[in-house]
Amino acid sequence: MSNMQFSDEFDFENRITDTSEIPADAAEGDNPLRPKNLDEYIGQEKAKENLRVFIEAAKIRNETLDHVLLYGPPGLGKTTLAGIIANELGVSCRITSGPAIEKPGDLAALLTNLNEGDVLFIDEIHRMSRAVEEVLYPSMEDFAIDIITGKGQMAASYHLPLPHFTLVGATTRAGQLTAPLRDRFGVVLRLELYTPEELGQIVTRSAGILGIEIDNDGALEIASRSRGTPRIANRMLKRVRDFAQVMSDGVITCETARTALDRLEIDELGLDQNDRRMLEAIIKYYNGGPVGLETLAAAIGEEAVTIEDVYEPYLLQIGFLSRTPRGRCITAEGCRHLGYDFPKGTVIGSATQPNLFGN
Ligand code: ADE
Repeated sequence: MSNMQFSDEFDFENRITDTSEIPADAAEGDNPLRPKNLDEYIGQEKAKENLRVFIEAAKIRNETLDHVLLYGPPGLGKTTLAGIIANELGVSCRITSGPAIEKPGDLAALLTNLNEGDVLFIDEIHRMSRAVEEVLYPSMEDFAIDIITGKGQMAASYHLPLPHFTLVGATTRAGQLTAPLRDRFGVVLRLELYTPEELGQIVTRSAGILGIEIDNDGALEIASRSRGTPRIANRMLKRVRDFAQVMSDGVITCETARTALDRLEIDELGLDQNDRRMLEAIIKYYNGGPVGLETLAAAIGEEAVTIEDVYEPYLLQIGFLSRTPRGRCITAEGCRHLGYDFPKGTVIGSATQPNLFGN
């Protein structure tokens, strides 16, 4: 089998527009691009200003901050915000994730090692097991856990007090949290995709930290192709720098950014091959939709959750895709962007049966 047969295959790990964090995003575990306090943090104005008030109030009362739930698409800075919350409170931040806490004992070990007031950050909190969740409830509410040792007549129960702590939970899917867990967060903040202007400021700030020369238009060009996501913007900045250094004088201008991102096959709106492949599948195989999520996932050989978490938020935001009770539809604007006519018979958001074969 020749390598050519794989040339069209999508390599999710290497996708520049991938929103999951990879080691290359951080320098030796500590990402220098991460803002350390609220003043350095650009965007998310609503969440940020509310958080500022809650942190200040907790400090005035000399109490721990209420538990905080952050939710929204990946790559928007949930881990960064958890670190900022800890810094602003002047405490340490312990970082873990839902899937990493395998047994109730793992959680007990984490909790008993916290210091008074610390922040415990649990990423992907929706992926925690039910058994672990059961231990988390009393810890969040009463700052204590009940441990049972032994069996039968030898069984003994210990009530173990814990230090007061702030749990910061992060999830891309708030809808998948159980109601009892969701209800135990006093502060719930939704993170939104960033505007190109905010991303432009982030790119300029990151370039300053990395010692990269970039002008305003260069930063805006990267920003406008970053699908509302700082993680993507910062990754693109590093790749565009490579092109700028090899192909010109190292300075990122609008022209160099454009050339580099065109070469990386990321279009003016930030769509890459995979977005185009998915949208084209909806047009070609399903006459523009509606098509069910699982059907679409199978058609393009992708996981349904990846479509929901990674591809869709941005395509919905820019109005290229719509979600109807009967499935996903491409919009007229999405069709136009890809250079297709809007399929006949497509009635977006309507219960009308579309003409599947375009006749
Ligand atoms: N780097 C990544 N996200 C950022 C943000 N929201 N503000 C400033 N710098 C960032």
